[in-house]
Amino acid sequence: MIILSVESSCDETAVALVRDGREVLADAIASQIEMHTIYGGVVPEIASRKHLEAISLMADQALSQAGLTRSDIDAVACTYAPGLIGAVLVGVNFAKSVAYGLNVPLIPVHHIRGHIAANYITHPDLEPPFLCLCVSGGNTMIVDVEDYTRMTLLGATRDDAAGECFDKVARVLGIGYPGGGPMDRLAQGGDAAKYPLPRSKVDGAPLDMSFSGLKTAALNTIHNAEQKGENLDLPSFAASFGQAVSDELVPRVMEAAKLTGRTKIAAAGGVSANSRIRGDLEAACAKEGCQLYLPELKLCGDNGAMIGSQAYYEFLAGNLADSALNGYASRPIDR
Ligand code: KG4
Repeated sequence: MIILSVESSCDETAVALVRDGREVLADAIASQIEMHTIYGGVVPEIASRKHLEAISLMADQALSQAGLTRSDIDAVACTYAPGLIGAVLVGVNFAKSVAYGLNVPLIPVHHIRGHIAANYITHPDLEPPFLCLCVSGGNTMIVDVEDYTRMTLLGATRDDAAGECFDKVARVLGIGYPGGGPMDRLAQGGDAAKYPLPRSKVDGAPLDMSFSGLKTAALNTIHNAEQKGENLDLPSFAASFGQAVSDELVPRVMEAAKLTGRTKIAAAGGVSANSRIRGDLEAACAKEGCQLYLPELKLCGDNGAMIGSQAYYEFLAGNLADSALNGYASRPIDR
């Protein structure tokens, strides 16, 4: 079954063609990062307009990459939530019209379920159940993936997402947007113990996280150094910050594994590209005898292929939509 899948929830306009949930035939992406860089973050209205301009072109590009025609498409899928609402709606309405025009099923996909499914593409042997640490620019959560379409949220951030935190600190340091990648590269060779930064604890909810205190402490460290005319040791500061983020995430997912008895652990989302988090997960899983699944780097960030992968399993479960499908800024992953 060949699914044409559309992702437009933030600043990438992506259209892919995926066969049977695991084989990527084409993955076309138009990134808007350059456009938003001058503002230091995504401007929602600009994002929606850019999606409108790019989406048909990306669909044509995907078909030509795969050497297929419209008549080869068996179903159409799109991210319907969560995301910037104007941006999501462009993809939803495009997918609705293509599905209607081709008279094929329409499959709505939750964006974070899509991130999780990036692992099915990288690891053909991976099947649920497993735990997934989902870390992106807008979401941070630990999910029990009981089955391809049955999931339970075990823990989540109470405030900022991990990626948002990387982006804000990087913006104040002036090292670019989005900031996670540049912070990761800057941290190489730095001393992760040099700058003391806080770790959070949420009373009564051991798997929930908080990043706002860490973000404030990191920004205060930068501003205090500026006020005193001192130079920060940037690689060590970036390494200390990356370690603090990793310490929020990795021990909690290992705790979740103990509580649920799961022995397979995956990670997903843009922040799962982070080298320290990947390294810490590898070490923790090796120590606890768990099997670790990490998406290949190009599938960590937003892409259309991950939506096409999850869509296949939503289709098998009968989770289809019709032309009444709406887009949503937020939606629980476990419904
Ligand atoms: O999954 P994604 O592409 O978009 C959302 O669905 O939000 O994630 C984007 C986030 C950004 O905050 C970006 O700074 C972060 O992923 N990111 C990283 C790295 N690469 C991207 N964060 C930490 N380390 C990285 N290497």
